Amino acid sequence: MKAIVCKHYGPPEELQYKDVPQLEPRKNQIRIRVKAAAINDYDWSLVRGKPTAYRLIFGLRKPRKPIPGMEVAGIVDAVGPGATRFNIGDAVYGDTSDHGFGSFAEYLCIDERAVLLKPEHLTFVEATAVPHALCLAHQGLQLGGLLPKMNVLINGAGGGVGTFALQLAKRQGATVTGVDTGDKLEQMRALGFDHIIDYKTQDFTTTGQHYDLVLDTKSTRSPASVKHALAPGGVYVTVGGDPGRLIQFLFARIFGQKNIRILALKPNKGLEALHPLFAEGLRPVVDGPHPLTDVPQLIRYFGEGKHFGKVVVVVWNIDPDR
Ligand SMILES: NC(=O)c1ccc[n+]([C@@H]2O[C@H](COP(=O)([O-])OP(=O)(O)OC[C@H]3O[C@@H](n4cnc5c(N)ncnc54)[C@H](OP(=O)(O)O)[C@@H]3O)[C@@H](O)[C@H]2O)c1
Repeated sequence: MKAIVCKHYGPPEELQYKDVPQLEPRKNQIRIRVKAAAINDYDWSLVRGKPTAYRLIFGLRKPRKPIPGMEVAGIVDAVGPGATRFNIGDAVYGDTSDHGFGSFAEYLCIDERAVLLKPEHLTFVEATAVPHALCLAHQGLQLGGLLPKMNVLINGAGGGVGTFALQLAKRQGATVTGVDTGDKLEQMRALGFDHIIDYKTQDFTTTGQHYDLVLDTKSTRSPASVKHALAPGGVYVTVGGDPGRLIQFLFARIFGQKNIRILALKPNKGLEALHPLFAEGLRPVVDGPHPLTDVPQLIRYFGEGKHFGKVVVVVWNIDPDR
């Protein structure tokens, strides 16, 4: 089968698109004929081996799992011993990161618990863009105690998490401010953000505006400064960012800033309960779809923040409406 292979840590341009042996599903695994996959922060980190601490997870000298990709949508095409949740032909999707990587390939063998049935209202391209970002957005807003009509700010709003968090917060009647930059600001306005801040010209912690809930995908400001953006009783939730900055937030919380919360993602948790929202119009913002062969350039495009929403690749030629 064809796959994107990472032989050593380095620039994404050194990834190879090549033939690799096709695997049979082992105990409790299914094999998925991958229709579409999405690019994530983990791919940007796995391929470069940066931050270096990640090598403790991915492999010290080179990636233990050489095929990146942790979001998948496709069709079950083989069922291994002991796997009972799916039948051949089922359409599935999920964030596989708790069980391994490898979705930038024509086939993926993975523990059957890594995926769930694809909602019928989503195409494969849409479905692969959902699990990671929607769970981060949903779990982050829950951790922040989102209530109807809150005044919410999303920092790093133009990516996968921000565009889902906007839709979820709007469903609660929230007023939502998005912080990002460049061409994305116009797209964010069109998507429904009430207010936009360009982080290159304005610092959201010094505008004098106060928010009931700040959801931060980048954690670019210090714990001391984010409190200036919070209304009385307001909560700041970080879902990600530089590891050093996250440690600062952890210490700030331990030593007294109890309105700071740090999300530890539980992949796919709560996703099934959100399926009815797709029938009501909840959708990922998709950048693409692009061909699988473009993954090396797309990982850089993602890492440099040039995308809007979720970057999706199609693995087989698929009907875009299904
Ligand atoms: N909590 C967990 O357990 C967990 C698990 C997995 C991943 N994560 C984290 O969750 C986050 C995923 O978010 P995502 O998928 O939405 O990321 P994303 O698609 O990369 O979006 C982030 C957005 O932030 C923008 N940005 C960059 N620098 C900024 C700044 N200084 N101020 C404001 N915005 C800025 C980026 O645009 P430009 O670069 O063009 O400016 C981009 O549009 C990542 O931080 C990831 O590490 C957390």
